[in-house]
Amino acid sequence: MDSETNKKQIVLSLVQPTGTPTLGNYLGAFKNWAKMAEDYDCLFGAADLHSITVRTEPKDLKSRTIEIYAILLALGLSPEKNTIFVQSQVPQHSQLAWILNCYTQFGEAARMTQFKDKAKKYADNVNVGLFSYPTLMAADILIYQSDFVPVGEDQKQHLELARDIATRMNHFYGNLFTVPAPFIGKAGAKVMSLQDPTKKMSKSDPNTKSFISMLDSPDVMVKKIKSAVTDSEGRVYYGENKPGINNLMSIYSACTSKSYEEIEQEFEGKGYGDFKAAVAEAVVEELKPFRAEFDRIINDRQYILSSMALGAEKAAARAERTLSKV
Ligand code: TRP
Repeated sequence: MDSETNKKQIVLSLVQPTGTPTLGNYLGAFKNWAKMAEDYDCLFGAADLHSITVRTEPKDLKSRTIEIYAILLALGLSPEKNTIFVQSQVPQHSQLAWILNCYTQFGEAARMTQFKDKAKKYADNVNVGLFSYPTLMAADILIYQSDFVPVGEDQKQHLELARDIATRMNHFYGNLFTVPAPFIGKAGAKVMSLQDPTKKMSKSDPNTKSFISMLDSPDVMVKKIKSAVTDSEGRVYYGENKPGINNLMSIYSACTSKSYEEIEQEFEGKGYGDFKAAVAEAVVEELKPFRAEFDRIINDRQYILSSMALGAEKAAARAERTLSKV
């Protein structure tokens, strides 16, 4: 297995088990992962250690970690062919993170915009873990000699820091790490909030009508799309000052592979009601196979636990090689 998979370039990404991922996460990233897993040596994981940088109920953390893990499997990722693991079950990540801490300047970490934002948002719990979050993330990436990391806009600065740390340590000690690059794939759709389409769709938005969770029931998806904010023009086309309709068009296009032109033709002379109904149906259809897989897997606790154990074993064996070198 090794000699074959080692030839492929390595792609790694972790997902925090905080809140169920949204349609935006799905169309922007997850949808492509199963395909990506055919061309690359892929490692995917649940970043549960990152999630305790904000106060978390242990019970919730556990059930959400299981949920996110089942979501990864339900995307069609195979624990045999890929490496699908839970971060806390691979202790090498934390061990490497400590070492990376010693090669990261206080000023560099203090410059991270996510840290500054979260320090404001969680002012009563600005813990050291929140501060060193990016070095744990760097450890996640560097410990597998990852070539590519698919990251959203909000994580680019952290990846940049991981590159800086890798380059610095390579300079001191020779070739310890592959310097990771952002994964440039086919750009996924950028999905905006259904209630304020100038903002990105976010699972942590207090207004639950603003996002579609990957595990919402079809009924709820339909309701949320029907109450999406649009404009008063009543004509379906992609244009300036139509962020609501643009967003729905982009969602519809991502689900049906239709171009904006085709969509404009399809809804010529029709109103937003018809359009929203079509978008809702397309979204429900898009997520249907995923949902069926998820429901099957989440009820098979044994399969989840044995896949986690396999993932941890495979991940740890690989992580150990880098850690012992460092
Ligand atoms: N910080 C990332 C997020 O919140 C999650 C994450 C942790 C991650 N470790 C990673 C992403 C390594 C990519 C690579 O989205």
